[in-house]
Amino acid sequence: MVGGKNILLGITGGIAAYKTTFLVRLLIKAGANVKVVLTDSASSFVSPLTLATLSKNPVISSFVNEGEGATEWNNHVELGLWADVMLIAPATANTLSKMANGTCDNLLLATYLSAKCPVFFAPAMDLDMYKHPSSKASFKKLKSFGDIMIPATAGELASGLHGEGRMAEPEDILEFIKAYLKKGLPLSGKRVLITAGPTYEAIDPVRFIGNHASGQMGYELAKVAANLGAEVILVSGPSHFVVSHDSIDLRKVTSAEEMYNEVHSHYKNIDIAICAAAVADYRPKTVANQKIKKKEPEFSIELVKTRDILLSLGEKKKEQFLVGFALETENELENAKIKLKKKNLDAIVLNSLNDKGAGFGKPTNKITFIDKNSVITPFELKTKAEVAKDIFDEILKRYHA
Ligand code: CTP
Repeated sequence: MVGGKNILLGITGGIAAYKTTFLVRLLIKAGANVKVVLTDSASSFVSPLTLATLSKNPVISSFVNEGEGATEWNNHVELGLWADVMLIAPATANTLSKMANGTCDNLLLATYLSAKCPVFFAPAMDLDMYKHPSSKASFKKLKSFGDIMIPATAGELASGLHGEGRMAEPEDILEFIKAYLKKGLPLSGKRVLITAGPTYEAIDPVRFIGNHASGQMGYELAKVAANLGAEVILVSGPSHFVVSHDSIDLRKVTSAEEMYNEVHSHYKNIDIAICAAAVADYRPKTVANQKIKKKEPEFSIELVKTRDILLSLGEKKKEQFLVGFALETENELENAKIKLKKKNLDAIVLNSLNDKGAGFGKPTNKITFIDKNSVITPFELKTKAEVAKDIFDEILKRYHA
């Protein structure tokens, strides 16, 4: 959910500021771009150098930077507009009161007033301060502005007292933001299963039967589903593509049999399944234990059919919305429609090898989306990322939870 998002972290002067190093690390690991604004007093609790190194961005705290002979202005308006999310953590009673009253006497507050994005604040203070009517009035006023409070938790406080006022833990802050960003997304709370890539069917310990599929189409579909709020299980054959979204659970497999077993271990709880993998249709009947030597002038391998994963999902289908792919070279529409029916699908994505730039092993694809009512929607040649968006647009028009 935070992958690719610009997150502006405002740190104010409380002891919990030391925890923001972990918070920045978590945000970066989740794929966010992070910039940090510190108040002067915050820099007594946490080192700007540590935060700059972790966030991979300069850390700023005043309106001007005195460089070598040059003076540079830190533009709070630009920073506020850059942010997709602003998070103030820890938020002290002092800063919260200033935010609630429009005070603008430091860069962090000016940036807060300039931000157009959702603003989260995670209070941290001693228990009596947290309970004070003045603090409560700040929380209330900020919430009335649309800002989102990440409540403090109870526990041992820096004063040695026990009670409410501890800043939420970095992991919980991240989860809170992710849950908020997910809400309202079309696939929020849904589980999507996607197969991708080729499968390799072993001949002996060093050789296999495979194909040229790269896996890209499936990985792009997984990214789109995750960005739409879904929890995604991506079952992938060998592929060099990587996953950078923390809502995508990548399960790597090698053979068709492994893919079959992995897919079926999740299918029961799945809402939407898309089979984009180029699964081998046949595998060697026996796998040699040792490397096969080139003794004979002629050599043949006996092949047996692999299990059709998509067909088996169609047979077991209950509430799932099931989508397959068809790669055809002739009678494309007719063959795709036959596959749709035979495999009990809700829709099929047709690639024709007669279309230049379509099919696998290429960064582009040209598809036709066909649903179970034979509504046919053709698309232009596009990048696979764009094609993945088109496919989900079509699914969302038809999928009713
Ligand atoms: N598929 C699968 N398991 C297999 C073979 C195919 O899940 N063992 C899925 C693919 O992921 C794709 C769809 O079935 O979504 C279509 O595969 P394709 O190879 O085009 O069709 P087949 O049904 O295998 O028929 P044919 O090869 O005869 O065209």
